[in-house]
Amino acid sequence: MKHLVSLLSLGASLVVCAGQEQAGTPTADQAALAAEAATAAQGLGTALKAELEAALQTGGAVAALGVCRIKAPHIATRISAERGMHVSRTSLKPRNPHNAPDVWQAEVLREFESRKAAGEDPASLSYAAVVGNEFRFMQAIPTAPACLACHGERLAPDVSAKIAELYPQDQATGFRQGDLRGAFVIVKALSIRP
Ligand code: HEC
Repeated sequence: MKHLVSLLSLGASLVVCAGQEQAGTPTADQAALAAEAATAAQGLGTALKAELEAALQTGGAVAALGVCRIKAPHIATRISAERGMHVSRTSLKPRNPHNAPDVWQAEVLREFESRKAAGEDPASLSYAAVVGNEFRFMQAIPTAPACLACHGERLAPDVSAKIAELYPQDQATGFRQGDLRGAFVIVKALSIRP
């Protein structure tokens, strides 16, 4: 992850990992892929938010936890199929252990933390790279006030109890507004390198 190149108006960075891929300026194809990936991330974000809001309104946070647990993976699968890119979420402090980052994703998440510490707006942190035969894109997810009921520092006792029941390995509490909660991960296999 040596070469960072600003990616036009997208505000993303295209990174070419040294040793795995030739370094250089992003091609038009790579810029288009990054824009597509950003749209896919936004699609997942919007769909999850709508589902969460509906669940919170109907049954409150405890019921929404159950909905989130069942629906979040289905929504990701649907958006992946619609977009032709694999779309998921990850975090350095995951609630669901299935969302734990791999080594590459953890490195990007840590870089997001340093960029945020250096003053970048968490909402605009993104990262794109071609690694081997994959185009990979990550978009940071900041913690909003609406997230605190389930990811904040003080949870209602019934919410805490339900989380402990559903996610015995939960690490995803203690966040404050503006903290990086995690990131969307978008991966597309490249048949021909851009
Ligand atoms: C009603 C409770 C609830 C609220 C409110 C909520 N979440 Fe979550 N969140 C969950 C649950 C449950 C999971 C685990 C989903 C799964 O099993 O895949 C989760 C998982 C996540 C993940 C995936 C990584 C992980 O930790 O497993 C991210 C990222 C995330 N939430 C971000 C947010 C953001 C950002 C908000 C606010 C916009 C938010 N959440 C609001 C319950 C909630």
